[in-house]
Amino acid sequence: MPSRRPLVAGNWKMHGLKASVAQFEGILRGCTRVRGDVDLMVCPPATLIAAFAAAAEGSRVAIGGQDCHAEPSGAHTGDISAEMLADAGARAVIVGHSERRTYHRETDADVRGKALAARRAGLVAIVCIGETQAERAAGQTLAVVERQLAGSVPDRAQPDHLVIAYEPVWAIGTGLTPTATDIEEVHGMIRERLATRFGRPSEDMRVLYGGSVKSDNARELLAVGGVDGALVGGASLKAEEFLAIATAYA
Ligand code: 13P
Repeated sequence: MPSRRPLVAGNWKMHGLKASVAQFEGILRGCTRVRGDVDLMVCPPATLIAAFAAAAEGSRVAIGGQDCHAEPSGAHTGDISAEMLADAGARAVIVGHSERRTYHRETDADVRGKALAARRAGLVAIVCIGETQAERAAGQTLAVVERQLAGSVPDRAQPDHLVIAYEPVWAIGTGLTPTATDIEEVHGMIRERLATRFGRPSEDMRVLYGGSVKSDNARELLAVGGVDGALVGGASLKAEEFLAIATAYA
């Protein structure tokens, strides 16, 4: 039997100053209300990882980064390695977010390199994939997501160091979400491809949904077949809103 614990992860993107530790502490205080088998994670900007990790020590909330370089160290001004994230207290890192793919021109091969770096550093890689509005309109959703999945996920992946996040680009920050049927179709395809490629261990790999998850649609989205949790952007910045999403697992 697969044993996929739900995961609700917050991606704070480029939001948060030192004062935001107070908001994060609200999540730490409230997380006892979340069902015991739900994993919780917050991915703050890199500048706050150490402070959040210190605040979260001994709690059930893991800390993640939002991106990493593929190399462990070197002459890469402004970049941060997976080892550095781990050293600062992160347990995971988001790789291949659509904002990285779009604004930093990251390719599937780049994302795969980052996912490998995460594994090397002992971090869980949360690999993001998802189609644009134009691709969906052209009927290419499954083909695009399948191609990104094949190209972005390294060989010999194991469930304890890989999470997939399906995030349709057009649903991010727009208030729009796919129908349950559409999400189920994409997640079903992802799970099939993972099974073909990785066999039995794939049954324990989590596939999250991301894109305009809020407290008022979380129950519906998290109940969709094949959805093992959520990657939450804007709604994760407020402790009460994030907790309301996580407690949708009643
Ligand atoms: P929103 O929840 O703000 O739509 O962002 C989703 C996202 O990009 C999470 O990585």
